[in-house]
Amino acid sequence: MLCTRPVALLVAFLAACSSPIALAQTAPTVHPDRWPRAHSPVRQDAATEKRITSILARMSVEEKVGQTLQPEMKSITPADVITYHIGSIENGGGSVPGGNKHASVGDWLRMIDSYWRASVDPRHKGPRVPLMWASDAVHGHNNVFGATLFPHNIGLGAARDPDLIRRIGAATAEEVRVLGMDWSFAPTLAVVQDDRWGRTYESYSEDPAIVAEYATAMVSGLQGSGRTFLDRDHVIATAKHFLGDGGTDGGRDQGDNLASEEVLRDVHGAGYPAAINGGVQAVMASFSSWHGVKLHANKPLLTDVLKDRMGFDGLVIGDWNAHGQVPGCSKGDCPVAFNAGIDVFNVPEDWKALYASMVREVKDGTVPMARLDDAVRRVLRVKMRANVFDQGLPSSRPHAGDTALLGATTHRAVAREAVAKSLVLLKNDPGLLPIDPRGHRILVVGAGADDIGKQTGGWSLSWQGNDNANIDFPGATSIWKGIKAAVEAGGGTAVLSHDGRFTGTKPDAAIVVFGENPYAEFQGDQADVALHVENAESLSLLRRLRAAQVPTAAVLISGRPLYLNPQINAADAFVAAWLPGSEGAGIADVLIAKSDGAPAHDFQGKLPFSWPKRPDQTPLNVGQPGYDPQFAFGYGLTYAHPARVGTLPEAKVAVETAARGVFLKDGVGTNGFALAIGDAQAPRIAAVGARIATYGAEALTLRRVDRRRQEDAWSAAWTGTEDAWIELARSEPMDLSREANGAMVLQLELNVTRPPTAAVTLTVGGGEVPVGGLLRRSGDWMRLRVPLRCFGTAGGNLTGVSAIRLRTAGAFNILLSDVSLQETAAGDQCPAGK
Ligand code: BGC
Ligand code: BGC
Repeated sequence: MLCTRPVALLVAFLAACSSPIALAQTAPTVHPDRWPRAHSPVRQDAATEKRITSILARMSVEEKVGQTLQPEMKSITPADVITYHIGSIENGGGSVPGGNKHASVGDWLRMIDSYWRASVDPRHKGPRVPLMWASDAVHGHNNVFGATLFPHNIGLGAARDPDLIRRIGAATAEEVRVLGMDWSFAPTLAVVQDDRWGRTYESYSEDPAIVAEYATAMVSGLQGSGRTFLDRDHVIATAKHFLGDGGTDGGRDQGDNLASEEVLRDVHGAGYPAAINGGVQAVMASFSSWHGVKLHANKPLLTDVLKDRMGFDGLVIGDWNAHGQVPGCSKGDCPVAFNAGIDVFNVPEDWKALYASMVREVKDGTVPMARLDDAVRRVLRVKMRANVFDQGLPSSRPHAGDTALLGATTHRAVAREAVAKSLVLLKNDPGLLPIDPRGHRILVVGAGADDIGKQTGGWSLSWQGNDNANIDFPGATSIWKGIKAAVEAGGGTAVLSHDGRFTGTKPDAAIVVFGENPYAEFQGDQADVALHVENAESLSLLRRLRAAQVPTAAVLISGRPLYLNPQINAADAFVAAWLPGSEGAGIADVLIAKSDGAPAHDFQGKLPFSWPKRPDQTPLNVGQPGYDPQFAFGYGLTYAHPARVGTLPEAKVAVETAARGVFLKDGVGTNGFALAIGDAQAPRIAAVGARIATYGAEALTLRRVDRRRQEDAWSAAWTGTEDAWIELARSEPMDLSREANGAMVLQLELNVTRPPTAAVTLTVGGGEVPVGGLLRRSGDWMRLRVPLRCFGTAGGNLTGVSAIRLRTAGAFNILLSDVSLQETAAGDQCPAGK
C-alpha cells in the first residue's frame, strides 16, 4: 500500500509515524531524608558571608546574571566579559589558544590574562568580580602541550591506592596552576555499570566503594585540605556528573538511568558524600536522565538532596549545553534548569541569548530573585574560598609560567608509578613474565607499541584524542621506548617490528601491544564489549608468533574490559594496561626483569571492572544474580602468587567489527545497515552480495566495483528515466540524536563519474537535504559531508533512523565506498540550494 504513495508523502508519513511523542515525564519521587548527610570540612565563615551579602547588595540583575554564565573561550572576547559581566570561562576539550595544540604556556597566560583583566575593568559600574577559568584536567592537565598525562581513571581504579590518587591530584593541580587557571572539571565519579558506554574509562570502578574512597582522595589532592585548602598549589575540583551518568540504559551516552532511588543513592551516588567530605567546591550536573527526566531539570536531586540534605554549599555547574536538552528549553533559554538548582550554566556559544532570557526572567519573576541571589552567593563563596579576589593577574600567581613544573620529572615519576600499579596480569601460564633481558633479543610488536596517542586515549590534547602523533607529547615515553631502555639496561636487545615479522635469528620473546583507538564520550559507545579495531590483526599476529614458537606476552590498551578470549588463548601472558598516559615506561617496570633476572616490581593491579566471557555479556557487575565473568572483579595475578589460566572458551557470537558511527565500510554495510535501491513503487530492493541490483528498465543499477581492493565499492548509475534512490537501510531504527547533538557530520566517500542532470537529495530519518550542488565535479574520490543537524532542521527525526538515502530523478553516476559519521571540521555547513 505504502509503495504506491508518492515519495514526498511517503517520507512525510514515515517521519510522522516515527517521531517520538513528547510525553511530560515525571521521575519517581525522591525521599531526601533517605539519603546520607555529608559533612564538608570547609565551614561557612560569617565574615565571608557578610562580605558576599554586601557585594550582592551592590550588584545589578545583569551583573548577577553574568556570574551564572560560563561561555567557552572560542565564543567570547575580553570586551564581552566587560559588557556581560561574565563570571567564568572554560576551554572545552581540545580548545587551545589560536587553535594550536602546541600552544605555549606564554600563549595560554597572555590569553587568560586578557579575559581576567576585562573582568576587573574599571568600566564595570558595580563591584569588580574577577573571573575564574575552568578546564577538563581529567588525567593531568590534558589539554596542554607538554603536560604530564596520568593513566585514565579506569587504570587508577585497578591500582587500589588512594594515596597515589591524592598525589596525582596534587601534581595535576600544580600543572593547572602553571597556566594560571583556577578550576578543573574532575574527578568523574560515575560508577559505570554497562561497559558499552564510551566513558567507561573515566570511571574508577563498577564498585561504589572504590569510587567513594577515590573521590575524597582526588578532591583533597586537587584542592588541598586543612591548611593547604585552595592555597597557592591547588585548584577547585568538580565532582561529576551528578547523578547516575554511569547507569544509563544500554550504556548510552547522555541516556536514561532507570535505577530505583536506592540504587541511584547507593551505587551511582556513592561518590558525592565522599567528595563533599573531602571539601569539593563544585559539582557538575549530568547530561543523563533519571526515568526520563533530565538531571538538569531535577530539583529534588539537585536541590533537595545535594544542596539541602548533603549540605553542599559550593556551586552546581551545568554540563556542555545540557540545559538545552530539557523539554521546553533551548541553549539560550532555560529557567527550569536554573530553578531546579543549576547555579552556573555551561553555555559554550549561546550565552548572549541566555543572558538576555535570564535577565528578562528574573525581572518578570520566572526566576525568583532569591534563587538568583543564592546561585551568585555560591559562586562568590567559591571564588572567595579559592582566593580569586586576592590572587591578581593569572600570570602573576605562584607557579604561573613555571614551565619546569609542566611535565615535571617529579610528576612524571608519579605517573610512571601509577602505570606500573594499574597493570592487571590476566594470564602468565608458562611464567613468561617478567621477561629476562640478559643476553636476550626481545621483539616488540603491534600498533600500540610506539604510539603515544593511542596509549593516552581520549581527552588528550584534543577532545577525542584521535589526531595525535608522538611529536605532540614532548617528554613522554612510548611503551616501546620504555621496554627498549629496560631491556638494554638488563643486558639484552630490543627490536621494534610493527607487523611482527623478523629477520635473522628467532627472538627469545615478543611483546605485542594492541587495542582500542582513542575516543571520548558517545564516540566510544558500542553495541557490545568486543574490540572493534585490530581484532583480526591482533589475533593473527599472536597466532603467527605462536606458530613460530616465539614466547609472547600481549599488552592490551583499552578503555574498558573486552571479550578477547581468542587473543588471550593465543598469548602466553596477557596484561590489561588500560590507557596508561604519557609514561609508557611504567609497563617495562613490571614486565621486564632486572639484570639479575628478578622482577623489578610485582603486579599490584586488580580488576576494577568485571571481565566478560562473551562479547554480549553486559551489563556485568559484581554482586549481580548469576554473576559469571571470565575474570571476576578484583582478579589479578602476581609474580608472588602465580596461577594457571589454561584455554578459555571462545564464544561463537558474531562480532560486529565496525565502530558505531560506520554504516558502509569498503562497500560492506555495517551496524545493521544494508545497501538497497528503490523508487516509489518498489522502495527497497536489496543489493545482495556481489549481485547487481537493478530497478525497472534499468532506471538505476547498482553493481560492485574496485576502489582500493577487489569489490570494495559500488557503482550507482541513474539513467534519468525515473525518480529513484540508493539507500543504506536498517530494519531496526538507530538513534542518532546524540551524534547530531555532538555536532557529527555524515560523510559519504564517493566519486562522481557523471554529474547529475537534476536535483539530488540526501535523506536521513526523513529529513531531506539538497546535495546536488556539491556533486558537480567529476573524476575524483571526494567526501560529501553534511552535518547531521541539517537533517533535523529539514524535519528529520534523528531518534529513529532507518535509512540514509541518496535520490535523484536525473541522470547521475557515482562510485561509493564508505559512509560514516565524522567529527566536524572547519567548513562543514548545511548545503544550500540544489
Ligand atoms: C562533558 C564534561 C566536560 C564538559 C566540558 C562535556 O561534554 O560531559 O565531562 O567537563 O564537556 O568540556
Ligand atoms: C568540546 C568538549 C565537549 C563536547 C561536548 C566538544 O566540542 O570540545 O569539551 O565536551 O564538545 O559534546
